[in-house]
Amino acid sequence: MTKDPLVVFTPSGKRGHFAAGTPVLTAARQLGVDLDSVCGGRGICSKCQITPAYGEFPKHGLSVDEQALSDWNAVEQRYDDKRGLKPGRRLGCQATIQGDVVIDVPPESQVHKQVIRKAASARKIIMDPATRLYFVEVEEPDMHSPTGDLERLERALREQWDIPAIQADLTLLSKLQSVLRKGKWQVTVALYKDHTDAPALVTDIWPGLHESGLYGLAIDLGSTTIAAHLTDLESGAVVESSGLMNPQIRFGEDLMSRVSYVMMNPGGHTEMTDVVREAINDLTVSIAQDAGIDATLIVETVVVCNPVMHHLLLGLDPVELGQAPFALATSGSMFLGADDMGLTQMNPRARIYILPCIAGHVGADAAAVALSEEPGKSKDLVLIVDVGTNAEILLGNTEQVLACSSPTGPAFEGAQISSGQRAAPGAIERIEIDPVSKTPRFRVIGSDLWSDEEGFDLATATSGITGICGSGIIEAVAEMRMAGLLDESGLIGSAEQTGTVRCEADGRTHSYLIHDASADGGPRITVTQGDIRAIQLAKAALYAGARLLMDKIGVEHVDRVVLAGAFGSHISTKHAMVLGMIPDVELDKVTSAGNAAGTGARIALCNVASRAEIERVVHEITKVETAIEPRFQEHFVNASAIPNSVDKFPILTGIVPLPAVKFNTGGGDGDRPRRRRRG
Ligand code: FES
Repeated sequence: MTKDPLVVFTPSGKRGHFAAGTPVLTAARQLGVDLDSVCGGRGICSKCQITPAYGEFPKHGLSVDEQALSDWNAVEQRYDDKRGLKPGRRLGCQATIQGDVVIDVPPESQVHKQVIRKAASARKIIMDPATRLYFVEVEEPDMHSPTGDLERLERALREQWDIPAIQADLTLLSKLQSVLRKGKWQVTVALYKDHTDAPALVTDIWPGLHESGLYGLAIDLGSTTIAAHLTDLESGAVVESSGLMNPQIRFGEDLMSRVSYVMMNPGGHTEMTDVVREAINDLTVSIAQDAGIDATLIVETVVVCNPVMHHLLLGLDPVELGQAPFALATSGSMFLGADDMGLTQMNPRARIYILPCIAGHVGADAAAVALSEEPGKSKDLVLIVDVGTNAEILLGNTEQVLACSSPTGPAFEGAQISSGQRAAPGAIERIEIDPVSKTPRFRVIGSDLWSDEEGFDLATATSGITGICGSGIIEAVAEMRMAGLLDESGLIGSAEQTGTVRCEADGRTHSYLIHDASADGGPRITVTQGDIRAIQLAKAALYAGARLLMDKIGVEHVDRVVLAGAFGSHISTKHAMVLGMIPDVELDKVTSAGNAAGTGARIALCNVASRAEIERVVHEITKVETAIEPRFQEHFVNASAIPNSVDKFPILTGIVPLPAVKFNTGGGDGDRPRRRRRG
């Protein structure tokens, strides 16, 4: 008896014997090979493309001849004529097995494709979104066996896709009948099935085959900025990213002042809820426009945010978060509809998922960082610092993970800095100060040239030199310390003390002049004593939080540090360490993870199982509340010095000499840095 043909799928290596005439798609399904299909094998979606390989395959013990698959058929020809198939490609639902064959499933035909991420160390995202498209043929109504259109749609999904049950809301029902008839009983439905036991929800329906894709928004809702990534729910690709300032700033720059606003204006949280929802609506419109897609194709949104933003987005009064014991209305993850949240510019039935919060001050953004960076899977002790207006800090390894948040304030984002500005063309982002001449050279966003290089003026003619962004101010302060313009306590020396006229008297204190374009009507960019104090506050809060977690574990050192946050990824590690923002560690042990909270949101958007994972992981994280820990204050005071008045930085000082200057000649040191309120 001759054996049925052997089929080997690559790259999975899955293999099996199938009767001649079996469609490749059927064989793939039976073997559990990841081969996509939206139309269920009807030859119209082209998701099932495969590439047969012919010739000798000693590795597989196979010899594949040209007749291994059935002939190119009319359906494939029609598709090729209309849309074009890449050379060598076949439709897996049309080509049938005729002989032994090796079949490659290209990445774009895999359902659970892996999303390529830039950072090599970062975790992979395997596509498995909650919302998927299904093409179905629905039975026409029959007077003799009366059933509703929805019930027949449900039956079709059960029979054709093994989906046991669906639910649909009134807005969907109101379009169901016309779409079914328009599609001549062939429709595509978008079904949302999350990681819970809830039945699948029909989020939209289109006549015939829907070919415009599905999208999701991953939103990182920060107190200062709102960032959104429009993600293709099939490929996982970020098709557009956009951001805007959080309009709640007008109610208070930091979180605590927004809570105070509600304390003083009972019910005032609803105003803040309205403006943030409106901002997300605006962002939705603009991001869809920029990407050239219809905003109703946005069927899912994942939001990560800190606890105060969480409450304000949901319309919950955040007052309890402003006082011990910092109780959240709920710390669990949230599943909502866009309409519940006033998000009117995406699909009206879009599903919103909000990651769980870890504690009253450690929010869904920290949970998202944990999801992205997985400290609990790290063998060595890793400190993860997500630098924002509030820093989310995680410390842990496979044994335990601790988390806290620390109120750094907006200084790292260029706010509260006299020449500060957002990272935009024209902003100084890198700076070096010659330790002998005390002269600065710098680079601005938009040009790769240093200010003392030929062509710099021309390169920056359009953008100008407009201010200093967050990474620039960190470098400026650190370079001033390294050049002996700034002492350990954070005081800027006078011209006499430092030997440079760039250290100018500024009231009772001094400022350091970086760039003067005032002769041409441009700005004078200086670092003032007030700027130094703002940076000292921010970095001391950051370090004190990290140090507190180290105390809890009982360690003096960490093995590695991950800097996260949109801005964290742009910080020079050497300069961050000169400032004493992060604990002393070998410079090559400090890596950048980009916007880890945003990445966590993307992971939760693209992979539904990760939602269950983070819901489990948050329970295993030990929360540390900085506000009630006396040691935090102690660490904060020590960390106000640059780099630190108590903790030694032996690794740093081995690399970078820090001049032992002292400028406190009795009075005139400006305000000592005082601990910021939580915010
Ligand atoms: Fe849709 Fe093959 S499964 S074209």
